Amino acid sequence: MKRIAVLTSGGDAPGMNAAIRAIVRTGIEEGLEVFGVRHGFTGLMAGDWSLLERREVGGIMQHGGTVLGSARSLEFKTEAGRKLAIQKMEQAGIEAVIVIGGNGSQTGSHALAQMGFPVIGVASTIDNDLYGSDITLGVDTALNVALETIDRLRNTAASHQRAFLVEVMGRNCGYLALMTALAGGAEAFVIPEVEISPETIATELADAYNRGKSHAIVVVAEGSQNNAAALLEHFQQHHERIGFKLRATILGYVQRGGNPGVFDRILGTELGAAAVQFLLNRQFGSLVGRLSGEIVATPLDVVVSSQKELPANLLKIARTLAQ
Ligand code: F6P
Repeated sequence: MKRIAVLTSGGDAPGMNAAIRAIVRTGIEEGLEVFGVRHGFTGLMAGDWSLLERREVGGIMQHGGTVLGSARSLEFKTEAGRKLAIQKMEQAGIEAVIVIGGNGSQTGSHALAQMGFPVIGVASTIDNDLYGSDITLGVDTALNVALETIDRLRNTAASHQRAFLVEVMGRNCGYLALMTALAGGAEAFVIPEVEISPETIATELADAYNRGKSHAIVVVAEGSQNNAAALLEHFQQHHERIGFKLRATILGYVQRGGNPGVFDRILGTELGAAAVQFLLNRQFGSLVGRLSGEIVATPLDVVVSSQKELPANLLKIARTLAQ
């Protein structure tokens, strides 16, 4: 193998740049030419790439986002789009591609692998909903951003005897909300995996108020049926019963930005370096992730057909402590 490509796809995640840097430098060390593809699968279909040298990936690791740019491509979901990408890569002599991304992106990797093109995925999404890695790239930094916000909100909430609904990202997955609630000592949390009625939350808040709490934090996952907007509307009609005055803060994209912390820089570096080795070992069609502390490759067939579960023990602890 002589020429490979790397791309970042889907939602950017802090730590992607560390992975790119590790892939480029490990690849060069192994005698490969590494091409950086701009804007994910969109760039792959357009042949939009350039050769990356060691120095070009210097000074990128500490930055959030992705220096290669990212995209969500509808065209790549079609066979014609993937054929075009393969044709472009074959014309340029690119023999394999490393895809850094989450669920949707690795579904694209899997489809490419099924067409016979050598692919390796790198597990990256702040949502932590990708099977094949206990923790994915970007999660730790996103959690720290959410946590810092909760600590700040507590100050203002306590000053005014308010309850804050804090909505965190996570599409259909409650992992970010659960971990933020645990680490932030939230009084309640709402996640899509275990839907809870607004009535129950209202009762929990009223109980907290009657116990003399100066404030309360409710962490809400964006993918919950009762998101922050729905809950706020419901609660405003029950203000008397709840006791606290209510406010909502939606964190949104703030969580995806920012400089990666130590954990994501190391994880990105480890996953990126390992991805090149798995390519050289010809373990094509697999996803590189971290399972039980080890960097391992899981077949993309398994990744795309499996559902990652929330850690049941932490879910139980969170319920007990949020009182
Ligand atoms: O998958 C990562 C994520 O940030 C989700 O948490 C969120 O629902 C989604 O991406 C937002 O997607 P987009 O960047 O396309 O708006």
